[in-house]
This record gives sequence, structure tokens and C-alpha cells, in this order.
Amino acid sequence: MIQLLVNFLELVLSVFYRNRFYPRFYLLETISRVPYFAYLSVLHLYESLGAWKQADWIKVHFAESWNELHHLRIVEALGGGKHWGDRFIGRIGVLGYYWTLVFVYMFSPRSAYHFNQLVEEKAYHTYDKFLNENETELKTQPAPQIAIDYYRDGDLYMFDDFQTSHLLSERRPKIENLYDVFVAIRNDEMEHLKTMMTCQRLDAKEVLKSPHSPEFQPPV
Ligand SMILES: [Fe+2]
Ligand SMILES: [Fe+2]
Repeated sequence: MIQLLVNFLELVLSVFYRNRFYPRFYLLETISRVPYFAYLSVLHLYESLGAWKQADWIKVHFAESWNELHHLRIVEALGGGKHWGDRFIGRIGVLGYYWTLVFVYMFSPRSAYHFNQLVEEKAYHTYDKFLNENETELKTQPAPQIAIDYYRDGDLYMFDDFQTSHLLSERRPKIENLYDVFVAIRNDEMEHLKTMMTCQRLDAKEVLKSPHSPEFQPPV
């Protein structure tokens, strides 16, 4: 059922945004942030009520949403959100998706994580296909400044903090052109996918830690 819904959403995007890559990515990234925001809202509430002590999860989900925010800013810098119609669709989608996921997460965190795992998997394949089909052209275009700042020249604490599948500082994207930027975004989506899978494990509370936590070990 969940897989069917994700496939349907992908079909709608690929039909209506067939050759409008950046508006499509704009919508994808606008929506991609929402699950993390929903998880954060619920975990924050639980933590404030004294019912949840896993503060690391709040940190990791915030770093994931911060990463998606930068994907969105990069796509905006490429003109992805310049038409009001695309922004309108994205914002309506955010409202419905956010409240749905808040309730799903309250009743079944594992279902909410599984749904987002499938969305992240689609995002990974969307960017991978885009890279394969447009490699030559992308390599001739410059990287947006926001991508250089986020992936290369800025403080990389937040970049490291959402990558729970490997040791701290292990991944440092090279950013020389637009192709490199989309490689970095695609690989970020794979990191999100892996974290979503870890969150569904029975021992998730023990294994999911912020990479900056002294207790952090990449899950096996
Ligand atoms: Fe993304
Ligand atoms: Fe993602």
C-alpha cells in the first residue's frame, strides 16, 4: 500500500514535470523536508513531556532537515521555484503531508520511517538518472555558491551530523561543477535512506546516535 502511494506520487511528478527538471526537484525537495519536521515536532513534544530521552534523534533529524533545506536552496538557485504555480503546489503539499505524518508518527513511528525510506529511495534514483542522462552538460556548468558554502567551504558540523552510517568526517564531496553538486545531493539521499532503515530496527534506540556523540558507532 505504502509502496503504491510512493509510486503514484512519482508517476504524477514524472508526467507533469517530465522535462522541467528543476521545478520537479524543487517540489521533491520542498516535500522531502517535511518528514523530518514532523518527526522533530513529535519527538520534541515527547521530550518536553518527559516521555522521551533520546535527544540524539532530535539532533539527527534536524541535521537531515537542514541537509534537505540546502538541497532546496541549491535547486532554487538554479531557478526551480521561480513559478508561483510550483510554489503553490509545494506549499499545499507541505500542509497536508506534515499533518498526516505527525499523526502516522504518533501511532506508528516505524510506518512513518518506512514511508520516508521509500521516498528517499525514489529521490536517490531520480538524481542518479538525472546525472547519467546529463553528465556532459552538467560538467560544463558552475556550482551554485550555496552548494560550495554548504559542502566545501563552510562549517561541516551539520553536514556530518545526519550521516549515521559511517564514521565522522569520512565523506567530503568535491565540488567543482554542477555535476559534483548533484552527485553530493544524490549521495545525501542514500544517507537519508540508510538512517530511515536504522530507525525501523528493533534495537534502533541503542544504535541510532548522532555521529558527534561519544557513544556513536556506525550500525552494523
Ligand atoms: Fe533532498
Ligand atoms: Fe532526502
